[in-house]
Amino acid sequence: MKVLFAASEVYPLIKTGGLADVACFLPIALHEQGCDIRIVMPAYRSILAQGTVLKSRSGFFIPQFKLHVRLLETTLPGGQVPVYLVDIPELFDRPGGPYQAPAGTDWPDNARRFAIFGYIIHLISLNQVGLHWSPELLHCNDWHTGIATALLANQPQRPATVFTIHNLAYQGRFPYETYQSLMLPPHLWSMDALEFHGELSFIKGGLVFADRLTTVSPTYAREITTPEYGYGMEGLLQLRADKLTGILNGVDYRIWDPRLDPVIAHHYGLTNLADKKINKLALQRELGLKVNEDAILLAHISRLIGQKGIDLILNGVHQLLQDKDVQLVILGTGEDRYEQELRAAAVSYDQRLVVVLDYNEILSHRIQAGSDIFLMPSRFEPCGLTQLYAMRYGTIPVVRCTGGLADTVVDANKKSLQTRHATGFHFHRDSLPEFMLAAGRAIHMYRSAQPTWRQIMATAMSQDFSWEKSAQQYRQVYEDARHSLSIQKMHD
Ligand code: ADP
Ligand code: GLC
Repeated sequence: MKVLFAASEVYPLIKTGGLADVACFLPIALHEQGCDIRIVMPAYRSILAQGTVLKSRSGFFIPQFKLHVRLLETTLPGGQVPVYLVDIPELFDRPGGPYQAPAGTDWPDNARRFAIFGYIIHLISLNQVGLHWSPELLHCNDWHTGIATALLANQPQRPATVFTIHNLAYQGRFPYETYQSLMLPPHLWSMDALEFHGELSFIKGGLVFADRLTTVSPTYAREITTPEYGYGMEGLLQLRADKLTGILNGVDYRIWDPRLDPVIAHHYGLTNLADKKINKLALQRELGLKVNEDAILLAHISRLIGQKGIDLILNGVHQLLQDKDVQLVILGTGEDRYEQELRAAAVSYDQRLVVVLDYNEILSHRIQAGSDIFLMPSRFEPCGLTQLYAMRYGTIPVVRCTGGLADTVVDANKKSLQTRHATGFHFHRDSLPEFMLAAGRAIHMYRSAQPTWRQIMATAMSQDFSWEKSAQQYRQVYEDARHSLSIQKMHD
């Protein structure tokens, strides 16, 4: 099947979160299963500056926006999956990240940037840019690509469409005046299209018009049909529930494997579990923590925002670190207020709390390898990847039981311990006492029941969240989308 996969970030070219991981490893897995899959993304300055050899594939002018566009081509690592980079210097050749200026504020013209990106995706999908290739299926991801599905909806030659929700909290909402300035077709300004309570909603383009919807875990697929998690889209998602599937994200174990990981101090696996401690000692040394193999090392890695429950960790720090043998490392970047509070907390706990306010892939591997317990008290978590990495590294997750965390981590209760299925610790309500209770259970078990702890580690490390399984499920959704489009065409 010929598939065009559209995303605003793709690892290793550019990454702000899990979307980039998915947009790399899912296409690779689909390619390995025989799909002719090609990716399309914006040509950000930082990608052009990487010095990768880029082929120029096509150049054209869009009169509607008075813009010259070049399509450049590179490939994902492995060289098999082509990536088309939409090069429009006026929109994408600037410093900073994909969505924000270096100062951390959203680019003021994001609506225009991603409306035009969507427009180009729709042109490629209709084979109108001189690539001499047309997909049978377009797979869009998150709001940045939502306009493409809307523009394609009434095109007779269009491919089938799938839209994946990675995070419903980000919807791409802009005022009506912005909509007017974007020169989108007038019929899309309707409650049944892009309008949402008098505003423009990019994500509605995907939610309303895609032939099939997916999100990144079965539990999140159910949660987003409720007011608590639906961010106003729950009604629409209830209406389309029969088209919505939850498919868990995967892990590329070629990159996340403590037996092979080139950046960790010492390799380990099920046969030499005790060697994980060597990584703990190396991490303590590297970060300036007190070097002590008996200390319990807790870790957290995330974008430091409310979604991740970083405030729960901040509020719990004093209680957790009352125990002199507990250490905590936090790696992340995010909201100013959290960064400041974390900096302040670190001062009070010399050699026991280390806060690294940075985005650092290598350190994230070393933290996964060197820690004992991974804290993930997310308010909501569509899937979450870091708990999956943690499990493979035998770092036991303590998670709020929501979204993908509920689907991937098995709570260590009496029954799961007996059957040897336990892989972590759950808490349910978004509350500090419940979080502390779960973290306390983990710490207590680590200390008082090492054989049981090692059993949990072994079960966690043996879990298989490989992309292969998820890619098979996506292929089924692709087939369903194509089938439903062909039936629709028969009726038209
Ligand atoms: P989200 O997409 O909501 O940020 P995920 O758990 O799906 O959450 O994915 C986060 C990804 O970003 C993971 O690959 C994680 O390792 C990585 N990551 C997050 N923060 C950092 C950081 N400060 N340094 C390195 N990697 C990070
Ligand atoms: C989003 C979600 C995260 C998910 C990722 C990739 O950023 O917050 O839970 O794992 O997308 O799908």
